[in-house]
Amino acid sequence: MHLSKINVRGIRNIKQAALSPSPSINIIYGRNGSGKTSLLEAIYLLGRGRSFRSPRLRSVINTESPECLVFAVLNDGPEGQSCNETPIGVRRSGSGEFQFKIAGQQVYTASLLAEKLPTLVVNSDTFALVDGSPGDRRRFLDWGVFHVEQAPRELWRKHQRVLKQRNNLLRRGKIDREQLQVWDREFAELSEQVADYRESYFARFVPECQAAYKALSGEEVDLEIELFPGWQKKTSLRDELKASFQRDKQSKTTNVGAHRADLKLKCGGRSAVEVLSRGQIKLLVLAMQLAQGRILRKIKRRDCIYLLDDLAAELDRMNLSRCLAFLADQRDQVFLTGTDRHTLLSVMPERIYQDPAVFHVEQGVVTAEPLADAVR
Ligand SMILES: Nc1ncnc2c1ncn2[C@@H]1O[C@H](COP(=O)(O)OP(=O)(O)OP(=O)(O)O)[C@@H](O)[C@H]1O
Ligand SMILES: [Mg+2]
Repeated sequence: MHLSKINVRGIRNIKQAALSPSPSINIIYGRNGSGKTSLLEAIYLLGRGRSFRSPRLRSVINTESPECLVFAVLNDGPEGQSCNETPIGVRRSGSGEFQFKIAGQQVYTASLLAEKLPTLVVNSDTFALVDGSPGDRRRFLDWGVFHVEQAPRELWRKHQRVLKQRNNLLRRGKIDREQLQVWDREFAELSEQVADYRESYFARFVPECQAAYKALSGEEVDLEIELFPGWQKKTSLRDELKASFQRDKQSKTTNVGAHRADLKLKCGGRSAVEVLSRGQIKLLVLAMQLAQGRILRKIKRRDCIYLLDDLAAELDRMNLSRCLAFLADQRDQVFLTGTDRHTLLSVMPERIYQDPAVFHVEQGVVTAEPLADAVR
């Protein structure tokens, strides 16, 4: 699966762009502020229905455009054959109206687009997988849980609803213990179901992530990953809720449950964030995202699209070269940006299965560059 055509209109400084990307590696280069990240943002908008940079989509729309639009042709035929072409598109007006279309049909939730176009991003914010909050890691894990384990999103919504009800009750001056027990029962059941889905996915994730990190860093590394489900699993969640009552009452919030789950990343027995350098953290977050894509391919036989913003930043030539080799072997479509095309092209592995496509971005104008010109 890959995007064979992309049209962008009115995204940040890109007023209009049309490109025919390579099914393998696409290099997008240009000076600071030229519009490289904006191009990735456009592709992300197509796959996720939102931006990776801003919670307010209004700021994504070009200041002189009434709306933004991304349209693409998704090709999910066998490699090299242009069959099964599906047009997909997303449009967002200045007044906030959203429209998603798959094969000319309007769809009403972004999750349908996400299923059609699994998209994974690595940018400076992705460091949060290692140095950010547990919520960042839960969202990451749940991407795999939804795409691979096909967990029902409704279960997550229900869990969230019951948690909210329980917290509302805890906020009252006088807590009705009987009513609390009713919520506890339902909350514990839902939390345990969420935890089961996460555990199944986690069992697939650990070996893939360890293998990817080893391949990217070129070292034998002692990377340990643990899944904390959100409570100490020695006891049942209902017992933990009971034991945590005084604490919950004081803090007016539920302190145990699947909403407190986290991934613990350790190297040589110590927290990864404390021992790894910035470059090593970047390799680790790349390994985490690449592991997600590999599991998707292995289990669901699906490809995904990688958006790698400023890939070369923080990486030395050896590590950058290993990353590109790993990406090329994975055979997913990759869009990577950088300010300098030579750095990226000079470490591109020779055995790459198809020539990369090169695009130059200048003041929001995207131009395809023949590879022969790009390497000059
Ligand atoms: N809504 C908007 N309308 C028009 N231009 C915008 C809008 N939002 C941001 N810009 C401008 O778009 C330009 C492109 O930004 P972008 O982040 O894509 O650049 P970049 O090529 O990734 O740069 P860098 O190499 O520094 O990461 C910036 O100059 C920014 O000021
Ligand atoms: Mg950028």
